[in-house]
Parts: sequence; C-alpha cells; structure tokens
Amino acid sequence: MTRPASAGAPSLDSVRDAALTVMERAYAPYSQFRVGAALVGADGAIFTGCNVENSAYPAGICAERSALAAAVAGGVKEFAMLVIASEADDPTPPCGMCRQALVEFAPRLLVVSYTKHGVEATWDLAMLLPHPFTPAALTHHQ
Ligand code: THU
Repeated sequence: MTRPASAGAPSLDSVRDAALTVMERAYAPYSQFRVGAALVGADGAIFTGCNVENSAYPAGICAERSALAAAVAGGVKEFAMLVIASEADDPTPPCGMCRQALVEFAPRLLVVSYTKHGVEATWDLAMLLPHPFTPAALTHHQ
C-alpha cells in the first residue's frame, strides 16, 4: 500500500505508474496476459494487485480482485478509482467476476484502463455492470 506524499488524491499518473509496475509482477505463465491494478481508496491510499495464475486454471485470480483483497485487508472499503494496466492492444475492462466483486463496495467506481503503449479508456462501473446484484438484494428476499 502506498500513501501519497501529500494528503489527498494521488495524481492519475502516479496511479497509472503503480498499475504498470505491479503488472510486471504478474504470474501469468499460462495466458501470457499480464494485468496490473491499482485501486485508490477514498483517503488516497493506493492498493495494487496483479493476476496470479495457477496450473489448476480456475484457482487463478485477476489483478482487480487481488487489489480489492489488498485494500480490504488494509482496512479500506471505500474507493475513488481503479486503474488497470495490461499489455493488450486495447485497454482491458475488468472481467465480469471482478465487476461483481467491485460493485459490492463502489457501484459508481471510476475505472481507467491503460495499455503498455499508452492507449486509454475510461468507464463508470455502473455502465460496465448495469442492473447489479448488490447487498440490498439480500435484504429484500423475504
Ligand atoms: N485478467 C485480469 O487479471 N484482469 C482482467 O481484467 C482480465 C483478465 C487475467 C486473468 C488471467 O490470468 C489472464 O488475465 C487471462 O484471462
């Protein structure tokens, strides 16, 4: 976890650099598709994660959920922004499972994705996952 030197939100450049740096640490020998994610907490702290694959393929985890787990373990559950970095030609959006994991905490999360070559895309999580299943659904089932 990294806190910005000055209080408040870190610059987008510094969050992108964190995502690109952690992407280099991805363990992706099966797909060769390395992904890094940097999740910015409401207080400006940056939590990073990379994809970690496994020879038992479904045991692998995406970069975004790795970052989310790091944030929650670090005591942060409110988020301002997610930045993804990958080596793909087009900016990758989070997969469906990661969208669901993120919507639990930040239904309107700003998601920015960069390729290694500087191509950028931006989404609102509500656009990526319309009609989400949220904790509210569980309280309305009886
Ligand atoms: N992956 C991520 O880490 N994040 C994404 O947004 C898309 C996919 C990983 C999962 C797997 O290790 C590899 O990329 C190929 O799907």
